Amino acid sequence: MAVAVGKLMGFLFMMVISIAMVAANDPDMLQDVCVADLNAAVKVNGFPCKATFNASDFFSDALVKPGATNNSMGSLVTAANVQKIPGLNTLGVSIARIDYAAGGINPPHTHPRATEIVFVLEGELDVGFITTANVLVSKSIKKGEVFVFPRGLVHFQNNNGYGPAAVIAAFNSQLQGTQSIAMTLFGASPPVPDNVLTKAFQIGTKEVEKIKSKFAPKK
Ligand SMILES: *[C@@H]1O[C@H](CO)[C@@H](O)[C@H](O)[C@H]1NC(C)=O
Repeated sequence: MAVAVGKLMGFLFMMVISIAMVAANDPDMLQDVCVADLNAAVKVNGFPCKATFNASDFFSDALVKPGATNNSMGSLVTAANVQKIPGLNTLGVSIARIDYAAGGINPPHTHPRATEIVFVLEGELDVGFITTANVLVSKSIKKGEVFVFPRGLVHFQNNNGYGPAAVIAAFNSQLQGTQSIAMTLFGASPPVPDNVLTKAFQIGTKEVEKIKSKFAPKK
């Protein structure tokens, strides 16, 4: 009897572990392909499948050219996710390129649905992520090198080099999602109340307003 209960407990434990493992990334596919119908009126978790598709649905030239980095952060993320490549629907992967001007930064942000792995195409970057125990894990990486940002953790890439830099970033999600910390808190619409931010950051209303003015949503 005790042995049987032990076996059952072991089986249940394995079930829980395997369910947890399945839930650790995009859900698995149930057919060969499910090319996203991006314009479908019906909303599901992901996108409904188009009835017909061809090679164009599995192709993108979005990453051929460097993105324009003449913005306040000096960087640009060019995504090739399910919104650009409908064939990625249900496949659990996507890719992007990130370009950085000299001195540019991809500011601290998180991807709620994906781990990210970057490959440096050009230049040098100081990169890092911060664990939930507030430990900074950081390193300088250069052309040809690879670095990993675990799912959900706040991370950044900073170009302290003298020239431009670029990476290819891969994600284990068809749509990794991005929350950029400063933009999320100071550029939300409708705005996050000032007194939430004064208390959270232990600063005054004037300072909050000043930061908000830099992240005001573009009209
Ligand atoms: C795929 O189909 C679309 C129309 O739905 C067409 O415009 C496009 O040229 C086709 N591409 C290929 C590679 O066949």
